[in-house]
Amino acid sequence: MSFEFHNLRSGTATASSDDQFAQAVLDGLSREPKRLPSWLIFDDRGSEIFTEITQLAGYHPAQCEIEIFQTHKQSITNMLAKEAFRVIELGAGDGGKTQILLEYFIQSQLTFDYVPIDISEGAIKNLVAFLELRFLQSTMSVTGLAADYFDGLRVIKEQPHLRNIVLFLGSTIGNMELPAAELFVRQLRESLNDGDYLMIGFDLMKHPKTLYAAYNDSTGVFERFNLHLLDVLNRKLGANFVKNQYVQQGHYNPRTHAVERHIYSTREQVVFIEALGKEFAFRAWEPMQTEHSYKYTPSEIEGLAEKSGYRIVKHLFDTQAYFVDSIWEVKK
Ligand SMILES: C[S@@+](CC[C@H](N)C(=O)[O-])C[C@H]1O[C@@H](n2cnc3c(N)ncnc32)[C@H](O)[C@@H]1O
Repeated sequence: MSFEFHNLRSGTATASSDDQFAQAVLDGLSREPKRLPSWLIFDDRGSEIFTEITQLAGYHPAQCEIEIFQTHKQSITNMLAKEAFRVIELGAGDGGKTQILLEYFIQSQLTFDYVPIDISEGAIKNLVAFLELRFLQSTMSVTGLAADYFDGLRVIKEQPHLRNIVLFLGSTIGNMELPAAELFVRQLRESLNDGDYLMIGFDLMKHPKTLYAAYNDSTGVFERFNLHLLDVLNRKLGANFVKNQYVQQGHYNPRTHAVERHIYSTREQVVFIEALGKEFAFRAWEPMQTEHSYKYTPSEIEGLAEKSGYRIVKHLFDTQAYFVDSIWEVKK
């Protein structure tokens, strides 16, 4: 069995992803109010701190998904057992939770390929190395792709036909607003074949105090994670943010149905971003939104699947019904 890593973000692709990064920052800081997309934070260090978040006992999206995989690994295995298959994971990060399933597939003697895709090169490199150590003699082959979701999927389309199951876990879909989520699952359907599966992890609406607690830990991991964005902007774009002049906080906004995180400038100040050749002024306590994590209702999830060309196979809930991994089948 082979264990490979490919970086699709090297060479000319690096230039285009750097341009995309710079453009997103320029657009976001030019808006009133300022708002940056959450994917900007995931450099190698950002991915490492996110792994710490997933290990927090109070961060229910990760803990619930672990419980769901432990409880339902047999039924997921039964669904896939008929033929060789490919597990594609979009935004795999450290692939920690997924390994519950991978290990069970291996124990069940299923032959399959695992293709984790992530824009974080460090996360994918580490994941492939870790899987090679842990599962060298097994029925699983691994091809890790440091790539944007759809660049990775384009490469897979050129590979021999296998039934695919695409995993999009950790409530990453919540980082998109509803119209963007719909566009995303429609585009995904175009990249897949009739009969392929998609399993998406959705965080469900629940008591706002539970949501607040999940995104504001007392140990300061979220604080480190969110303010790390300023380090990323300083390093990648030559910005001069002074990190200790900013604070951050997350809260549930009932108007947008999302946990929104903001970084606040504690004073009036001007930041220069060398790569953009531009200054950006911040008022004292001006907020800059850096995360949007939409909280779904079960009926919104069903509506999203049905209007985007999928058949719902099943919903896998945790015992508290805080989270659902929803399995859909591509219908063409
Ligand atoms: C919220 S984290 C979830 C990580 C992991 N799936 C989990 O459940 O713990 C989102 C992940 O998606 C990756 N990501 C974000 N935008 C991406 C894109 N356009 N293409 C590929 N990966 C992306 C990030 O680097 C990060 O690892």
